[in-house]
Amino acid sequence: MKYTSQRIAYWFFAVCMLLFSLQLVYGFIMGFAHMGYDGLHSLIPFNVARAVHTNLLVMWLLSGFMGAAYYIIPEEADREILSVKWAYVQLIAFVVVGVTAIIGFHFQWWEGRKFLEIPRPLDYLVVVDVLLFIGLIGGTIWKGRRYTTTSIVLFFGLLTAALLYLPGMIDTDHQTHDSYWRWWVVHLWVEGVWELIMGAIMSFLLIKLTGVDREVIEKWLYIIVGFTFLSGILGTGHHYYYIGTPRYWLMIGGVFSALEPIAFLGMAIYAIAMAKKGGKTPTNKTALLWTLGTAIMSFVGAGFLGFAHTLPQVNMYTHGTLVTAMHGHLAFWGAYACLVLAIITYAMPLMTGRKLQDTYTNIFAFWTSNIGMVSMTIAFGIAGVAQVYLERKMGLDFLLVQKEIEVHFLGLVLAASLFTLGIIAFVYNFIRFGGPVGDLQKES
Ligand code: HEM
Ligand code: HEM
Ligand SMILES: [Fe+2]
Repeated sequence: MKYTSQRIAYWFFAVCMLLFSLQLVYGFIMGFAHMGYDGLHSLIPFNVARAVHTNLLVMWLLSGFMGAAYYIIPEEADREILSVKWAYVQLIAFVVVGVTAIIGFHFQWWEGRKFLEIPRPLDYLVVVDVLLFIGLIGGTIWKGRRYTTTSIVLFFGLLTAALLYLPGMIDTDHQTHDSYWRWWVVHLWVEGVWELIMGAIMSFLLIKLTGVDREVIEKWLYIIVGFTFLSGILGTGHHYYYIGTPRYWLMIGGVFSALEPIAFLGMAIYAIAMAKKGGKTPTNKTALLWTLGTAIMSFVGAGFLGFAHTLPQVNMYTHGTLVTAMHGHLAFWGAYACLVLAIITYAMPLMTGRKLQDTYTNIFAFWTSNIGMVSMTIAFGIAGVAQVYLERKMGLDFLLVQKEIEVHFLGLVLAASLFTLGIIAFVYNFIRFGGPVGDLQKES
């Protein structure tokens, strides 16, 4: 750690740990409800649990991205963050808006649109908060002593993510239009601009952890960014097959989204190649493990399992089933959750001065959570395929099918318990690190 203001990141990461833990509680509520044990229904019905689970996910990931930016940008730009005081204001406002939204969901104060449930008045506050964040990061780069590809890609990823929140606020009472714009946010985030954030954070981590020259690592970043945009933008069409948009989306969506896995494959090969080329033994092996985990699991979850249901001929059957949940879990986990856990693992010893990164607990956390998440994905996949056959092929009623597949959720809950054990180990290790210290720590 080179600059004291990088320590702001610690508090964003602590928020991550808290919201992530809460997200899992709501996952279990739904897992049990799917098994037929819906005892909390009158307090937390399934739709509330689902909205809370997915919004907490987005919130802790965004908190992780922001923390990562506050950690990375001073180092890349070679100066302190523009204003530490405003960075804390930004964090507190972010948490207040998020927690208000989550509480509101329990009282049906929401918009009811998957992933974009946050009620409109709070949307405006989100915009103000994000503007402040972008201003602080952008201003730091602007006034900094150097511009690096990593910091520019990270900044544009964050800026475009902020801009793409706006289409979700376009007012319409037409269901097709509403779906159309919703995908501008949801798809263009995870399969577009968030990939820039992912590429930049991975490049920062690879530079630090492998010792390979910055020029080599950053050159590949351009190629990945190019591929992401080439396939991801028109790939939005894979959500326009059956929502009332014109038929040409079947062809456009099918072809371009089928190309998307190439960007994820490229990222995986790139990360592994850099780690091999580096030859340096990192002082933080677990951070490298999480970085390679991000590269590999995002290819499997987003690329491979995304491809599995992206062609219109397949999606016609799998649309909106548990096959989607199968892909959604491993894609979010691999690409973005592992990424945030990677930067946290890298930054914690440097911010706190305690060398607890390669402990048994932390390595256990990596393997257990990954094996747990792969098992959860398999459980969702089996339930999803059974659902598709019974409901979509044989034409049985939705609720009748849900009853038939209850048994598969025992598998899900068991797998989720293994996963949660891994996450508990991660959070425990995070707590053991303690808070940030006054003295600056040297790079690893
Ligand atoms: C990190 C990247 C990705 C993440 C986090 C992600 C996550 C998700 C999530 C959460 C959904 C459900 C969204 C909703 O219904 O509101 C979804 C749907 C979908 N994803 Fe992905 N995805 C990623 C990449 C991909 C890629 C690369 C492909 C194609 C190759 C793909 C194909 C699809 C398709 C076709 C659907 C629609 C499923 C349906 O019709 O129900 N995804 N994705
Ligand atoms: C204790 C662990 C977890 C359990 C038991 C769990 C369970 C569930 C369940 C039952 C659903 C609802 C599926 C449906 O609509 O019927 C769901 C949705 C979802 N969960 Fe989890 N989850 C867990 C952890 C996670 C994690 C760690 C992530 C992200 C990395 C995640 C991402 C999602 C997403 C994106 C959806 C929406 C999927 C879709 O749109 O189809 N979950 N989860
Ligand atoms: Fe998509």
